[in-house]
Amino acid sequence: MTYLDNAATSFPKPEGVYAAMDRFARHDLANPGRSGHKMALASEHALADARHRLNRFFNGRNPDRWAFTLNGTDALNMAFKGALNDGDHVITTNLEHNSVSRPLVALAEAGRITLTRVPADSGGTVDPDAIRAALTPRTKLVAVTHASNVLGTVQPVTEIGRIARERDILFLVDAAQTAGAVPLDLQEACIDLLALPGHKSLLGPTGTGALYVGTRVTLRPWREGGTGGDSLTPTQPTDFPHHLEGGTPNVLGVVGLVAGLDFVEERGIAAILKHELDLCERLRAGLLTLPGFEAFGHADLSRRVGTLSFRCEALAAPELAGILDQSFDIAVRPGLHCSPYVHQALGTAPDGLVRVSPGPFSTEAHIDHLLGALGEITGGV
Ligand code: ALA
Repeated sequence: MTYLDNAATSFPKPEGVYAAMDRFARHDLANPGRSGHKMALASEHALADARHRLNRFFNGRNPDRWAFTLNGTDALNMAFKGALNDGDHVITTNLEHNSVSRPLVALAEAGRITLTRVPADSGGTVDPDAIRAALTPRTKLVAVTHASNVLGTVQPVTEIGRIARERDILFLVDAAQTAGAVPLDLQEACIDLLALPGHKSLLGPTGTGALYVGTRVTLRPWREGGTGGDSLTPTQPTDFPHHLEGGTPNVLGVVGLVAGLDFVEERGIAAILKHELDLCERLRAGLLTLPGFEAFGHADLSRRVGTLSFRCEALAAPELAGILDQSFDIAVRPGLHCSPYVHQALGTAPDGLVRVSPGPFSTEAHIDHLLGALGEITGGV
């Protein structure tokens, strides 16, 4: 398979991820914090180490402010449902994935919050001044994706974060497409809530994610239950991370996530990003030589991640992706990418676009195979 769908989930994982998970599952996989024996302690240490690693990588304030989640969506739901109160106003953008849009729209439709959706420009960037202009005295939260999962365009989160901080408003960043791909400094960007999946550019397994909760935020717990200690407390303990981590955590997944982070740190985030951007540029240049293809999103590589979406005049995106899969063993993601508002703004709904997202193990030969297949398919249409 020529796998070019790393924006959905990265594949393959580094060898170290498979090896670390296999080793841990065979020797140390017990219930962290519950029993006190050597294996339980090893599991507890694995979680503590992972919190330290994430905190250092993203320059958070305190490792304990990292709660492990099922994925990015879980982290976003914990943030929205835990932080927002009736009557709050929230500002978001039209670049958001449904993991941001749907919980917010549901709260708005229930009459709990009011919501303003700021549009990106035609190249796929949100103007921080448009966020500033949307602020009201009731604004509690600004929620913005770090990069569009359709266009690959990186958003000016530091500028937006400073605007929110000046007004004492909470700032949430959805790092689904950037965690492990684009450097991010939580303190410099004034981020109060960061939601991330572990299975994309951090190269961990599915079923992993995290929510960083800054010290300015008060969150109601979203998942209440056992935490291993403090058993006499009748409701969820208020200390972090246990406040947000009822139930047995996915220790095995977190071990894989740390091994993925090891790879990212060893190879270097800048080197991986450059590799993926170079492959996208090779694709963009190749598409220009084929009649009837149009690539989307601005072309400034300093403000992009390695994701490129395109349209083919001759064939709708789902049909083209189906042929790529069935006849050429090429995996891409067609359609609306769970991000309907940006497709509506681009005029690409309902068929959407074909999205290509190389990863650290993708090669020029993969892109050339895709370009060759596109030429062959459209040459015969
Ligand atoms: N959010 C993931 C994507 O963009 C699944 O494909």
